[in-house]
Amino acid sequence: MKISINTLKKGEPLGDLFGIFFEDLNHAGDGGLYGELIQNRAFEYNTVDNQAFHALTAWEIIGNEEDIELEIASQNPVNKKNPHYLAMHLKSSGVKAGIQNLGFNTGIPLKKDVTYLFSCYAKSSQETDISLEVSFKSREGKNYLSKDFKINTEWEKYELELTAPCTDNMGRLALTTDKEGDIYLDFVSLFPKDTFLGRKNGLRKDIAQMLADMRPKFLRFPGGCLVHCGTLHAEDRDSMYRWKNTIGPVEGRPARRATWGYNQSFGLGFFEYFQLCEDIGAKAIPVIPGGFNPHEGKAAPLEEMQEWIDEALDLIEFANGDIHTKWGAIRAEMGHDKPFELEYLGIGNEEQGEEFFKRYAIIHRAVKEKYPEIKLINTSGPFCEGGDYEAGWKSAREEKSDFVDEHYYQAPEWFLANHYRYDTFVKEDPKVFLGEYASCSNSYYSALAEASYMIGLERNAHAVGLACYAPLLCNADYVNWKPDLIWFNNHEVFGSASYYVQKLFMNHQGDYQLECRASDEEESEDWTKEEE
Ligand code: AHR
Repeated sequence: MKISINTLKKGEPLGDLFGIFFEDLNHAGDGGLYGELIQNRAFEYNTVDNQAFHALTAWEIIGNEEDIELEIASQNPVNKKNPHYLAMHLKSSGVKAGIQNLGFNTGIPLKKDVTYLFSCYAKSSQETDISLEVSFKSREGKNYLSKDFKINTEWEKYELELTAPCTDNMGRLALTTDKEGDIYLDFVSLFPKDTFLGRKNGLRKDIAQMLADMRPKFLRFPGGCLVHCGTLHAEDRDSMYRWKNTIGPVEGRPARRATWGYNQSFGLGFFEYFQLCEDIGAKAIPVIPGGFNPHEGKAAPLEEMQEWIDEALDLIEFANGDIHTKWGAIRAEMGHDKPFELEYLGIGNEEQGEEFFKRYAIIHRAVKEKYPEIKLINTSGPFCEGGDYEAGWKSAREEKSDFVDEHYYQAPEWFLANHYRYDTFVKEDPKVFLGEYASCSNSYYSALAEASYMIGLERNAHAVGLACYAPLLCNADYVNWKPDLIWFNNHEVFGSASYYVQKLFMNHQGDYQLECRASDEEESEDWTKEEE
């Protein structure tokens, strides 16, 4: 076979073509990329998140009924946004009692000689000094290490470093005392000290490194259906994803239901996403809801769209505003004076129907008026064709969206057969953002079909501007969706065959594609003839 490359014929610039898409499904965020090892750290889990959840999910009592009683209180919390905390009523002195956290997955992954940062808010009802003991334990109750700290009668944050003396992937973190009285606890937290780039409230290093190793041009976040599922009111416990709920000190970020059947602590919030983008050299592509929940047909009244316009405008100011602007100052207070240089913004994810597109137009026009340089992404539903798909493209052409977000999950044969899908798309239209795609398994064959399809995307850079595989991460103990690019448990992480395909294309993304032909002919292509 002969492969001929025409160095005289360049395609369109590939720009930011290949990137990644993060959504907190499959416990990709809490219990995954987010470095927090304590599950339900603020005692906020409840049945809104999952029918089986309650405020003590992932916590176990240590001691007998005669020695200790647990109560969930809410009269005087550390922060009203997370109103619940634990009251431990200790009934006898001289007997050790308390609670222990089970962590995510099989437990807290303790690694020999690794140092962990423990913190909690605590107070006691006694005037006298009272000591709490924090311990690493095995699942069977064997004590590995303990440290004492004294607590006062007002809420205070206590911080300690603990170095694990052994490896145990089923570890527990216990908090006990042998004094009679009442002890109150909130925001019990444990992070490995060595998070990705050593950041506080940081990311699990091995998983974040897998993302960095791909060298993606962009990161789309925070979802997916996670963005638009829920109620329209930011204050509701099951609200849609509202980015303003996810910034500032973690104690003030209100817990919310994740549409994937669990709880979002928002410890991994919009500031952390922007920071991750900067850390791995990827451009940020946040996606916000457009005042419409397509699953339940909930739509913000048209006369109340200002709130949703502000969701977009304030986000741009949070990312790009200088430190004298309201939202730029909040970013600076969180430790980032310099703007994050946001270029792209997605409005909606797979929304369908006229009601959405009316609202999209309102937000689009307001953003373009104030920030004409921001590239706006419209949406075309969950399929590669059909009425909703066409409606998305119609809206995008009418509003002059910069991009249309296309999503499709198909068989490998579909990807092979549709290699030429974008050859007929024209440069004058909005560009395609292929925001979610995967060939239906984690097999080598699927990965190869995706690779062939990606060559088609490169060839059509005149029409396709951005593309990312989905979903990105899966915690093997909490599978919502398959296939996924990267799999992990509480102590290991693996790339699928598709991961290595994506990494190959991202690591070697060129500036533009040269015309290229494969043939069985012995003779070389005479490109000059065609040029004439
Ligand atoms: O990627 C998984 C899900 O698939 C996303 O949440 C949604 O956008 C799509 O339907």
